[in-house]
Amino acid sequence: MTIAHPSRSLAVPTGALRIPKVPLQRDPQDLPLTPVILSLVIPTFNEAQNIPKMVRQLTDLLDQALGEQYELIIVDDNSPDHTWEVALAFTVDYPQLWVMHRQQERGLSTAVIRGWQAARGEILGVMDGDLQHPPEVLLQLVQAIQQGADLAVASRHVAGGGVSEWSPVRRFLSRGAQVLGLLILPSVVGRVSDPMSGYFMVRRSAIAEQTLNPLGYKILLEVLGRGSIAQVAEVGYVFQERKEGESKVTWRQYVDYILHLLRLRSRGRVAHWRQKYQLPMQRFIRFGIVGLSGVFVDMAMLYVLSDPAMLGWGLTRSKIIASELAIINNFLWNDRWTFGDIANQQKGWQKRLKRLLKFNLICLGGLVLNVLLLNLLFNIFGFNRYLANLIAIAAVTLWNFWLNLKLSWRVTDTGKR
Ligand code: GDD
Ligand code: MN
Repeated sequence: MTIAHPSRSLAVPTGALRIPKVPLQRDPQDLPLTPVILSLVIPTFNEAQNIPKMVRQLTDLLDQALGEQYELIIVDDNSPDHTWEVALAFTVDYPQLWVMHRQQERGLSTAVIRGWQAARGEILGVMDGDLQHPPEVLLQLVQAIQQGADLAVASRHVAGGGVSEWSPVRRFLSRGAQVLGLLILPSVVGRVSDPMSGYFMVRRSAIAEQTLNPLGYKILLEVLGRGSIAQVAEVGYVFQERKEGESKVTWRQYVDYILHLLRLRSRGRVAHWRQKYQLPMQRFIRFGIVGLSGVFVDMAMLYVLSDPAMLGWGLTRSKIIASELAIINNFLWNDRWTFGDIANQQKGWQKRLKRLLKFNLICLGGLVLNVLLLNLLFNIFGFNRYLANLIAIAAVTLWNFWLNLKLSWRVTDTGKR
């Protein structure tokens, strides 16, 4: 068709969908003399007819506002109408324009991320390639980020925003999807007035080094769900009607939207669950070592008290005293070592005594549980007696650890988060 400018074609990044903290180096000759403020990614699929007008409009606007400190990155998924070729031909006249031609992967959200991975700017933006997003809003978005926002979203639902000629059915579907999103994932969807927006900018540092895993169309959900976004700004815009080409939205995008929300939600859940219930491993190991030391105390005391060669007391009396001494031994070590950090915050002998009493009660409960479990496994389920004892000991160790963690030393998960 035309001679393309080969150096303006960007290699498609491979591997994880993760944006580097520091931009990747391109061909040394193309290194910008001035730092790039904005990298605007434009995902396209069959937008060849829109490319000329759009590139011209964007360049006019951004040249004035940012000089050479911006770049436009068109990421095309091997469009049948050869959008990428049309775009590449334009790079001859528009030095800020770059083109990424993807052949292996496809899909709107990953196209945007691949573009951002190759971007050099500190602000990463996205805009549709069909002129439905009015370009003037770009400057307000950049300004919002420069004034401190981590994310600036062009919204149809704030002052100055709207849709042009949408039918009531389409408005209803759009709002319905938003309500559904609010029900499934309020902490993410509720942060912006237009979570479906595909027109926004984000500060690189807010999403760098995070592995993104989007599904379908709504890349903004992914940014909100996985980025570290402290401050959000919104700028109103009117969603324009399409003049050329056609929308790629099918029922599939609605399904993907819901699946994407569920995926983000379950990620949050799992993380929360892990944080809440995962065994604090270091403490658990210390607790186990202390427990083992208690076995030696118990054995030694049993020998001293009940052995005919020593004091020669009755077995039961000796065992009770030996066990109690072992429990006190364990308490002292746990209070000093396993839970030393917490004990330090609850000083005083009264508090200490209280911890000892709780520890004692829980361990006694553990002893009862131990005997019950041993009997249950051996007599009713017919386990080998030593296997049964081993299982009972393991269960009681967990019981002792968990209850003491939560009750004696009271480790709660409020506070640091
Ligand atoms: N690279 C790539 N790959 N680009 C794609 C793909 C794809 O698989 N699918 C769509 N695009 C491009 C289109 O060429 C267009 O530039 C942009 O993504 C948006 O696609 P449209 O099909 O025009 O979407 P829309 O107009 O219905 O949706 C718009 O409004 C939504 C809000 O209601 C978009 O702006 C969405 O991003 C936005 O969320
Ligand atoms: Mn569109």
